[in-house]
Order: sequence, then structure tokens, then C-alpha cells
Amino acid sequence: MRRSARYGVGMSRNIFVLTGAGVSAESGLGTFRDTKGEGIWAKFDPMKLATPEAFARDPETVLAFYDARRRNLKSATPNAAHFALARLETALAAGGGALTLVTQNIDDLHERAGSRTVIHMHGELMKARCETCDGVGVWRDDLKPSQACPHCGFVGGLRPHVVWFGEMPFHMDEIDRALRRADLFVAIGTSGAVYPAAGFVAEARAFGVPTCEINLEAADNAYCFDDARYGPASEVVPAWVEELIGPA
Ligand code: OAD
Repeated sequence: MRRSARYGVGMSRNIFVLTGAGVSAESGLGTFRDTKGEGIWAKFDPMKLATPEAFARDPETVLAFYDARRRNLKSATPNAAHFALARLETALAAGGGALTLVTQNIDDLHERAGSRTVIHMHGELMKARCETCDGVGVWRDDLKPSQACPHCGFVGGLRPHVVWFGEMPFHMDEIDRALRRADLFVAIGTSGAVYPAAGFVAEARAFGVPTCEINLEAADNAYCFDDARYGPASEVVPAWVEELIGPA
């Protein structure tokens, strides 16, 4: 299903794309919320698993939750939506424009599909951070409270390099600058339920940027968008990219 487009296909050179869990759903990574009540946060309590307080109270349980997600991610592969966005980045750059790809996802499927620049505003599952020295490094294995930080040697401070509820997302200044210079804003596979990302569409509109939602179904903030295309990301995103830059 498609609502009216108010922007000219092929006219956009600086495109801002915000992705959420829906872009990775067809790669086998669960979403957090859905209308059937089967999302990750319907099965698990985020206050016990995704807050600094939960980590301080029960690090084993929090680390085990992210260990399971990390193992799941290792066996997942990018889908056609990830590949289409990588192709869009290359084509826009070749034409003197740019794709700003901001993701709320902590997976690395955009990178594995070939996207060169990905802004992970909620962090990265395949990295660990030390709460003592703030050192960040690649971490592909399970995390245990008994492990020492490879940077400072402190034991007990390593955590997934992800943003938890109550923490400030990363790269907000860079995101704000990119929103201001965009000539099209597109949100893909995100429920519009979690701020500040859910507010980017309103910011874009305030800067006069046309906006489009690509999603399985209308997001909570669907009324904010000028245009909408509903369906699975693996079909709708490649079709949209093909409209913009032609067939692969
Ligand atoms: P949600 O799980 O809240 O929303 C996923 C969206 O993807 C929904 O709107 C679905 O309709 C849509 N969707 C599902 N399958 C799809 C498909 N095959 N194609 C296209 N769309 C599909 O995920 P996010 O909006 O990313 O934060 O969640 C935002 C944040 O909430 C996450 O980054 C995470 C979570 O709590 C933290 O953990 C800090």
C-alpha cells in the first residue's frame, strides 16, 4: 500500500535513512514490539535487562541476555533491504550526494551488506565497553563479569557497547547536522515508539525536509510522514531504491 508521494523520484541527493528492528526482521532477528504481542519486550522485561540499574543489580542476567542476542546475530545474514541501502549509498556518492544511514539496530547487518558508513545511535552488539576506562573494542564472544578489560585491566566493568534505557544515544550532534542538510528523510522498519529517534521525522519536517515511512504497518508516529509505503522491507526497500537510482 502506498500513500501519495510529494517528492520527486530521482531529485534527492542527500538522503537521511533511519532504520529500526523491522529492517532486520527478515534476517531472523526479532523486533521489540509488534501488534501480535510477540516482540522481544513482550517476552522480556526491558527494565530488568536494558538499564544501567539492571546491570548494576544483576550483571550475569543482563550479560546472558546480550550473549544470546550476539550468538543469534552471528548466524544471521543481511537481507535484500540491507543490500539495497548499500547500493543506494554507493550510487548517491558517485553522483556527488550522500546517504546518511542512522540505525537504532545494534546488529552489524548493514555493514555486512556493504554499507560503508553506518551511525549506530544505540551502539553495537559486537563491541564491548569498559565502565571504568570507557575503552571500546570489538567483542564477538560471551561477556562475563569475571573478565578483565583489555585496555585498563579492571575486572567487572565490561558491558555490551549498547545504549540502555535512561542513557543518551550516541552521535546526536552528527545526526542533527545530517537532518538539517537532508533533502529527503526516510524511516524504515521502526515503530516510532522510542525517542529521540521517533522525533527525527518531526525535526526533519521542521527543517522543510520531505518525509517517507517504509514499514510493515503504520508506525505510532505515521501521521508525521508525507508519504508511506507498507510491506516487508526486503521487498519495499529494493523497489524504492530502484525507483531512485535504477535497477541493480
Ligand atoms: P520495534 O520493534 O519497536 O518496531 C519494529 C517495526 O518494524 C514495527 O513498526 C514493525 O511493524 C516493523 N516491521 C516488522 N517486520 C518488518 C518487516 N519485515 N519489514 C518492515 N518493517 C517491519 O523496533 P524499533 O523501532 O527499532 O532500543 O525499536 C526502537 C528501539 O526500541 C530499539 O532500538 C531498542 C528498543 O527498545 C534500545 O534497546 C535502547
